[in-house]
Amino acid sequence: MTDLDTLRSTYLARVADASDANALEEVRLAALGKKGEISLKMRELGQMSPEERQTTGAALNRLRDEIDAALRGKKVALEDAALDARLREEWLDVTLPGRPRPAGTIHPVSQVTEEVTAIFADMGFSVAEGPQVESDWFNFDALNIPPEHPARQEHDTFFMARAAGDPRPPHVLRTHTSPVQIRAMQDQGAPIRVIAPGRVYRMDMDQTHTPMFHQVEGLTIGQGISMANLKWTLEEFCRAFFEVDEVELRFRASHFPFTEPSAEVDIRCSWEGGTLKIGQGDSWLEILGSGMVHPKVLEAAGVDPNVWQGFAFGMGIDRIAMLKYGIPDLRAFFESDLRWLRHYGFAAGDVPSVAGGLSR
Ligand code: PHE
Repeated sequence: MTDLDTLRSTYLARVADASDANALEEVRLAALGKKGEISLKMRELGQMSPEERQTTGAALNRLRDEIDAALRGKKVALEDAALDARLREEWLDVTLPGRPRPAGTIHPVSQVTEEVTAIFADMGFSVAEGPQVESDWFNFDALNIPPEHPARQEHDTFFMARAAGDPRPPHVLRTHTSPVQIRAMQDQGAPIRVIAPGRVYRMDMDQTHTPMFHQVEGLTIGQGISMANLKWTLEEFCRAFFEVDEVELRFRASHFPFTEPSAEVDIRCSWEGGTLKIGQGDSWLEILGSGMVHPKVLEAAGVDPNVWQGFAFGMGIDRIAMLKYGIPDLRAFFESDLRWLRHYGFAAGDVPSVAGGLSR
């Protein structure tokens, strides 16, 4: 057997034995790499006589091509085998039922806030915001509630801790959304038409009170604004929100330091067989406080009370959510009980049915 025959049988056997791509690459380098046996043999051609070079050169070229072809063939075979193995290992039963992906729900407070915002947006109100940690000036003084005013006690205020000598003004957790009236008027001046939904805090806890709850403030300042505009706005809102054609509101004279005159507003309803019906019946439910903005409040916010006047109202979001969706206990709103959330929550994309617009 010649040298070349030995090389051929050695390398073809090694190619055949290579069990994976790495082993095969080793064989290729050993034979055809720069320092591979065949490559070295080819370098020796230079020292041969022309005749010898011709025959040996041709034989070496054939051998190189043969081994190269064997390497390529083996490479494809190894890849096919690897793919087959993978296909045997990894497979999907596309007929299996899908894994359930539990979807969360929209909290009734979020849902109702969206509904309220949509209705007032239709009436030209934009949304204003203020901080939940509020200075006592915005929460009280600017709203005509001076330090010694009894209303400060009625608010069951949470006060922020303050080190002795702290030069910053005292802060509270806002007890209502009314301070946003002041901020909105300071920022935008008059005329203005805003609502301000958000969290408020009072030290109170029973079936209808939680230390944190939600209000939406409304404020309209313009010229020639009267209680008549307030009444129309609130009636229109209730018709759209409670989705009834007829609503009846009862304005009861009341007192708030920041409005004059002031009125608490009840809505006519009935409790037949334990279910609440809005719009008809012999019962009344209080839903909000309201009135004409007090001149002192306008002044505190930098608006001239000799030129401008308007109305304001503050409504409990949680409360109207309970009324609309028949939710009996306020405390459950904030307990994050999954069963409760699944039962009373809304599907994402459950567009408020009121978004269609107002009745006139
Ligand atoms: N801020 C009042 C409250 O929390 C509600 C209110 C707002 C009353 C605006 C009148 C005008 O009870």
